[in-house]
Amino acid sequence: MSSASAPAKLILCGEHAVVYGRPAIAAPLSDVRAYARVKPGQAGSGLRFIAPDLGENWSAAEQPAHPLSELARAALARLGVEDADLTITLRSDIPIASGMGSGAAIGTALVRALAAHVGLALPPAEVAALVYASERRFHGTPSGIDNTVVAYEQAIWFERREPAPLIEPLTIGAPLTLLVGDSGVRSATRLPVGAVRERWQADPRRYEALFDQVGELVVRARAALASGDIRLLGTLLDANQALLEQIGVSSPELERLVAAARAAGALGAKLSGAGWGGVMLALVTPETRDSVAEALRAAGATRVLGV
Ligand code: PMV
Repeated sequence: MSSASAPAKLILCGEHAVVYGRPAIAAPLSDVRAYARVKPGQAGSGLRFIAPDLGENWSAAEQPAHPLSELARAALARLGVEDADLTITLRSDIPIASGMGSGAAIGTALVRALAAHVGLALPPAEVAALVYASERRFHGTPSGIDNTVVAYEQAIWFERREPAPLIEPLTIGAPLTLLVGDSGVRSATRLPVGAVRERWQADPRRYEALFDQVGELVVRARAALASGDIRLLGTLLDANQALLEQIGVSSPELERLVAAARAAGALGAKLSGAGWGGVMLALVTPETRDSVAEALRAAGATRVLGV
């Protein structure tokens, strides 16, 4: 039996604009993970999937077009395996459709567990490429940041470029204390991403200008992170939230949490991920951490994680 896992992720700043070539910064949430276990199945069974947290059990023969059936087949082909009888169990502690990269984490854990089963270690770039191809097929126009930060499991600067993205490890000058508040509203990534694309097509000048402003702020956030200037970082996160509201991906629930975090002393707060639901993040200090967490719960957060 072989097993593997992969972390959730958080986009610190730059979501949505990253789809249009601007930079973004993301970090893994190593304590919240997805897990995959692979063991030999009965002869002739093919690939069988057991995924209690997804509420699904299926076989690749019955559901060949299931995204995870396809990803498993692609990964096995890359590993030089044609036919395999395997039972694959997938588990995840990451809430789905919440902006924490649950799809990328499950896919990454699956690819890693299959590689471990075959006895090969795939480099992060190859794992990321397999998961990206799968996300592209099923989610429209992903930038690639989710699969990259999850596969590399380190804080990154990311720019979508052709033929390959720019991925740089990030220097962090002072420890960051972040809280993640879950709005409890589930929203599939492709919906806000698709809505932004329609708006951008209808009014490219306005949206390109908004994306440029996000990109400039991400450049400044990188410098603030490197020098450990967390107050400046906080104001940049607030500015990013304002731009995300103008881009049209915020929501009343997220804005209630953002306002509550700021009122309780957070240095900055914004939604994180695709928006319309899912999670927000708040930059706090060890001193304000508990009061901000309390304020988030009082404002309706269904879950508050410390990072
Ligand atoms: O909500 P998530 O975790 O899928 O994050 C999406 C991030 C976007 O920038 C909105 C889309 C993308 O592909 O980068």
